[in-house]
Amino acid sequence: MTTSSSLSSTRSIQKPLLGVNIDHVATLRQARGVSYPSPLAAALLCETAGADGITIHLREDRRHIQDADVYEIAEQLTTRMNLEIAATDEMLAIAREVKPYWVCLVPEKREELTTEGGLDVAGQVSWLKDYVAKLQEAGIKVSLFIDPEDNQVAAAIECGADAVELHTGAYAEAGLAGDSDKQRMELNRIKQAVISAQRINKGLLVNAGHGLTRDNVNAIAQIDGIYELNIGHALIADAVFVGIEQAVVMMKDAMYKES
Ligand code: PXP
Repeated sequence: MTTSSSLSSTRSIQKPLLGVNIDHVATLRQARGVSYPSPLAAALLCETAGADGITIHLREDRRHIQDADVYEIAEQLTTRMNLEIAATDEMLAIAREVKPYWVCLVPEKREELTTEGGLDVAGQVSWLKDYVAKLQEAGIKVSLFIDPEDNQVAAAIECGADAVELHTGAYAEAGLAGDSDKQRMELNRIKQAVISAQRINKGLLVNAGHGLTRDNVNAIAQIDGIYELNIGHALIADAVFVGIEQAVVMMKDAMYKES
């Protein structure tokens, strides 16, 4: 198994990894309340196609991924599971039992369509520090999903996180709105957060995700120091037309193409 020190020492010399978020395979299944399509089958196909990890979000309202999916997928993955959860007692108990390779702590609001903003780590350092420690005691590496802001990066480091995941939603939305100035500004904000993370703690891994597509991923994948990108919605949307294995290959091509 790869150790955390070897993970961090190879960080800036390797291309970023791709974690595929398969929540929306479960969304499709839940829309009919039937047993298909299977998130487990999707996860295994993504791995075959070259995904470096699988991300699933067990939401408190169980709108897509169900508890049984978490256990089943954890048992059969050959890469690494990244389990996204809100920092609640219920989720802590599940994570400590499942023992995914990564847990990513995210903010959660019942009425939101998707994770809307980063976790306010700076506003709850002592509670989160304790929560992170409880996960790490169970042998789980912990990532905190934050907005690309220096104070949040510093707070995540203070909490003892193994990684941060920088929220790329504002960057993606600016692109969809055709606002190239804003998109450039958001890209710079993300680059600045990566630099801050490396300056404060060179061992901290820096991931990114949210709203990434084949059209906007390259600029993020080219940032020196980005360890992994977590991509769901756009990749599953591609899969509707080309199949999930081809969608993984196409996303990796878009990440790594020379610009
Ligand atoms: N990273 C985190 C922490 C998320 O909550 C999500 C959405 O579930 C993603 C990445 C993937 O975002 P998208 O589905 O927009 O690619």
